[in-house]
Amino acid sequence: MAMNYSDKVIDHSLNPRNVGEIEDASGCGTVGNAVCGDIMRVYLDIDENQVIRDAKFKTFGCGAAIATSSMATMLVKGKNIQDALAVTNKAVAEALDGLPPVKMHCSLLAEEAIYAALWDYAEKNGIAIEGLEPPVHDVSELEGEHHA
Ligand code: FES
Repeated sequence: MAMNYSDKVIDHSLNPRNVGEIEDASGCGTVGNAVCGDIMRVYLDIDENQVIRDAKFKTFGCGAAIATSSMATMLVKGKNIQDALAVTNKAVAEALDGLPPVKMHCSLLAEEAIYAALWDYAEKNGIAIEGLEPPVHDVSELEGEHHA
């Protein structure tokens, strides 16, 4: 079955922005989807005013997972942590001019990875971020490297 991807999805999957890792990240979240097996890790560098200075990602997954990670990291950069919570999977998919319905779960993984990194930041700093829930599909224990 042919899949209709927008030009933006194709661009971000072939030329993803913000690929990589941040050493000593303020927050890092790794989430996985048990059905497709894709894994996404997001690193955030957050300054003393709780503004996201930098965001990077590593994704082991499909093209839509890479495109949504790329767009999600672009969207949260420069935002404060509260505004970053507004970067939902719907917002990411819209910024990519849409995703095929069967690929919406990929954008959900991107949202969860950002939130998981924010959760990690909150835990490290002993703060609560209003509206932020603990990550449901956290697989950082499996990956086992960023939790000190
Ligand atoms: Fe699972 Fe894309 S197929 S994240």
